[in-house]
Amino acid sequence: MIGMVQYKTGTDPIDWEALGDLYEEIGLVAQFGKKRDLEKIRQAFQSSYKVVTAWKKGKLVGAGRLLSDGLCYGTIYDVGVFQACRKQGIGKGIMEALLRGNEHLLVYLTSTFGNEGFYSKLGFKKHKTAYAKYPRESEYLEQ
Ligand SMILES: CC(C)(COP(=O)(O)OP(=O)(O)OC[C@H]1O[C@@H](n2cnc3c(N)ncnc32)[C@H](O)[C@@H]1OP(=O)(O)O)[C@@H](O)C(=O)NCCC(=O)NCCS
Repeated sequence: MIGMVQYKTGTDPIDWEALGDLYEEIGLVAQFGKKRDLEKIRQAFQSSYKVVTAWKKGKLVGAGRLLSDGLCYGTIYDVGVFQACRKQGIGKGIMEALLRGNEHLLVYLTSTFGNEGFYSKLGFKKHKTAYAKYPRESEYLEQ
């Protein structure tokens, strides 16, 4: 039986150690996840337009964030769920909560390798001419 999951908006409910545990496990937040740089993770989340965390029995089990001007465009980053809690609809719940009230935005995101199907199930389409510039080499960028 899959237990109840609660979704919270904003950074006030966040336990930064628990969020650090999540991104230490799964990476993301640029290079700051694996490094467990809690201060940078906190700064990045507090500067975001919308932050959603997922909770099960009082424990943080997933998170994601939306950067946006609130009017035209938005970009979704750092959607992640602890390995032990996956395939229970929590990632989808985080995405739906991030997008709720933001249906008017053009929303962009980059999937990690292997998770493309997660986003296509949510209605996202591949962008024909998307470009990206990173401050370092990345296996996500064509030469
Ligand atoms: C990607 C991720 C967030 C998905 O979270 P999750 O809680 O397991 O996903 P859900 O259970 O909500 O899945 C929703 C739907 O997507 C499908 N799905 C999930 N992961 C998928 C994948 N990798 N490929 C194809 N479909 C996938 C599920 O089967 C489910 O389908 P259904 O609605 O038909 O039942 C999770 O695997 C994760 O945290 N990965 C590591 C971090 C990461 O790479 N995040 C992506 C950053 S861009």
